Amino acid sequence: MTRVDGVFLDPNAMVPRLTTYYIGRYLEQAWIVESTQDEVRRRAAEGAPEGLVVVAERQTAGRGRKGDRWFSPAGSGLYLSLLLRPRFPDVMLIPLALGLAAAQAVDAVSKHRPDLKWPNDIMIGDRKLGGVIAESQMQEGQVLFVVAGIGINVSEPVEGWPPELASTAASLGPDVDREWLLPELLNAIEANYEAIKTGHSAAMLAEYRNRCPYRRGAPVMITAGDGVREEAQAIEIEADGSLLVEMPDGTRQRLYGHQVLGMRMETR
Ligand code: BTN
Repeated sequence: MTRVDGVFLDPNAMVPRLTTYYIGRYLEQAWIVESTQDEVRRRAAEGAPEGLVVVAERQTAGRGRKGDRWFSPAGSGLYLSLLLRPRFPDVMLIPLALGLAAAQAVDAVSKHRPDLKWPNDIMIGDRKLGGVIAESQMQEGQVLFVVAGIGINVSEPVEGWPPELASTAASLGPDVDREWLLPELLNAIEANYEAIKTGHSAAMLAEYRNRCPYRRGAPVMITAGDGVREEAQAIEIEADGSLLVEMPDGTRQRLYGHQVLGMRMETR
């Protein structure tokens, strides 16, 4: 990690707003990294505690899902990764909990009220405001740890969006303060993650469903590994975080996070 003296987010502004016990209590700031995901993965392998957060001002190889790049210019976004060591089976709930936390934090600091697009997207209308990626490290069939990353477009980049994002990306606006957004986000993450840990995820999921217009009859485009596209219909987000869909032949299938590769959802 490249470090310089000083920080870009002022701890004195953030710490009084942080009400967590462990999420973000170890928080490292980096000016520029390839990906905060790699930084946290490295710390995890060294035995870092659950709740460690690395936040970067800029990423040179920010990762999105499906092998996409996450555009991560300096000054305009919030790019962070978080170490979780879940001991519960429904790890598919983690990206939902984090996406919901991002929406709740945005509610708290801005006039926006983002929607959620199962399983990982934070949306303003049909434009993408942010996304969540959850990378699990497995050992003997068990989840050893999860590195969960969140990217939120806070203000429009000074140099503007690259052409491929110009018609699809959303941002919150220049008046939104990252030093306020980050602690709100970490507070909401801990609350939602604790709900899962303690077996109280129902209310969290109900709020997720309320904010997710991409369900109940929404067409779900599934691309099989061999390139075949099939249109299913969303039925509901299930208690384990999977998406129940009806296939064209009338059979029902549950889709999980790892099956999201090659799938996209669209409203008609
Ligand atoms: C997606 O919607 O495709 C997920 C985007 C996740 C981006 C964040 S930015 C911080 C963290 N570091 C990364 O390299 N990716 C995640």
